[in-house]
Amino acid sequence: MIRKATLDDLDCIYKIALASFETPWAKASLEAEFYNEHANIYVYEHENEIRAYIITWLIADEAELLTIAVDEGWRNKGIGKSLINYMKELYGNKVIWHLEVACSNKSAIHLYKSYGFEINSIITNYYGTGKDAYRMLLCPNLSIKTGETNVGR
Ligand SMILES: CC(C)(COP(=O)(O)OP(=O)(O)OC[C@H]1O[C@@H](n2cnc3c(N)ncnc32)[C@H](O)[C@@H]1OP(=O)(O)O)[C@@H](O)C(=O)NCCC(=O)NCCS
Repeated sequence: MIRKATLDDLDCIYKIALASFETPWAKASLEAEFYNEHANIYVYEHENEIRAYIITWLIADEAELLTIAVDEGWRNKGIGKSLINYMKELYGNKVIWHLEVACSNKSAIHLYKSYGFEINSIITNYYGTGKDAYRMLLCPNLSIKTGETNVGR
């Protein structure tokens, strides 16, 4: 089940972030998003446990995918796709999406490309010295692939 996150989910979100990223967001940064009027934080809940989260911003007709992570043992089951599909449906197909992703993050780049995201530029040292990022864009009206999870509901 995908639902809007509440502050009660913060600890679980932070735990997934810690296990998912070399330089995870600070807990305070995650918390701050709950007070950001442009931010939408959603979680994927399964058997009363948070398995994944996504944080996006919507400002006018521009959406940004800030961060997404799936609990390690639950990856590659369609959960990441289901969260992105959910947000894309929520924002509609007229928005421009953008995101930054580490050039080394092959699975995430594969996922974004499957939606039609294209590499727009390279940001040198974005994640620290020698750790470049791609800026990826998805322009409106490109086809949207739907994904079903194979996680029991
Ligand atoms: C990136 C991430 C969110 C994807 O979530 P997920 O639930 O595992 O992804 P899905 O099961 O929805 O799979 C999406 C696609 O990625 C592919 N994929 C998943 N894991 C992969 C891997 N390790 N290597 C290559 N492809 C992979 C799937 O095969 C699927 O592609 P397909 O539809 O062509 O078969 C997840 O791997 C993750 O949390 N990674 C760590 C955090 C991170 O890097 N976040 C992104 C930061 S920008």
